[in-house]
Amino acid sequence: MKVVRTIGELQRAREALAGAVGLVPTMGALHAGHLALLAAARRENDAVVMSLFVNPAQFDDPADLAAYPRDEERDLRLAEEAGVDLVFAPSAGELYPPGYETWLEVTEASCGLEGAVRPGHFRGVATVCLRLFLLTRPQRAYFGQKDAQQVAVVRALVRDLALPLEIRVVPTVRDADGLALSSRNVRLSPDERRRALALPKALEAGARAPDPVAATRAALDGLAPDYVEVLDLGDATVLAAAIRIGATRLIDNVLLEGDLR
Ligand code: PAJ
Repeated sequence: MKVVRTIGELQRAREALAGAVGLVPTMGALHAGHLALLAAARRENDAVVMSLFVNPAQFDDPADLAAYPRDEERDLRLAEEAGVDLVFAPSAGELYPPGYETWLEVTEASCGLEGAVRPGHFRGVATVCLRLFLLTRPQRAYFGQKDAQQVAVVRALVRDLALPLEIRVVPTVRDADGLALSSRNVRLSPDERRRALALPKALEAGARAPDPVAATRAALDGLAPDYVEVLDLGDATVLAAAIRIGATRLIDNVLLEGDLR
């Protein structure tokens, strides 16, 4: 497995890859959810590229960025075990040098839900994803259903810019008790972790009810969700919600109809 840190090195290493390339963009702190994306990429492509970059442009809260878990040594070990061929792990200054000024806005898909609560978040996500697509020229790029609105944003930019790549969506990986795996879960105290289970439970109850949004809100009684909404992704509809447990924000969604691929 080769690890590169500059755009120039990445472009040269990409040239050396033969056949279909699968790209898995990550911010590190890898868990079984990321590993599911890497496994899908490994199965479906000749070469796998993983990016490892805590993208400052998508954090609206400097405290959240500062507290984001980082463990590059462990991430590189897990990536190697997952059969990754090439890791792009740039510094923030490499992707955003002084004077950087080109941004991508996906107007509709970024509205509401996470976009409403985290201003500028999807501008940062869309910009970094487009740049990773241009730099690695993958045949397929892999995203998790867990971040359903992110899937909608990335699909919209690929469609609108007619990028020659396929977006693949991997189902949410959960702990045995139902909590969706997230890099932010490590910040939960044991008591907070127990309270966080209300989110997947409420979404499951909501998905079975005649009025999913009202039923989820009722089941989250007292937890004051940032939002509970039905999100249409074209091939699928999901019921999505976000809650705050102490200082940690958690998002999750369940499928209502269709099939995300
Ligand atoms: P990050 O949070 O590291 O997630 C990387 C990918 O893993 C995303 O596509 C996310 O949806 C997926 N993922 C996270 N938790 C998952 C779970 N429990 N099951 C399945 N997949 C899961 O999302 C980002 O990074 C960034 O926004 C990024 C796309 C890298 C752009 O900076």
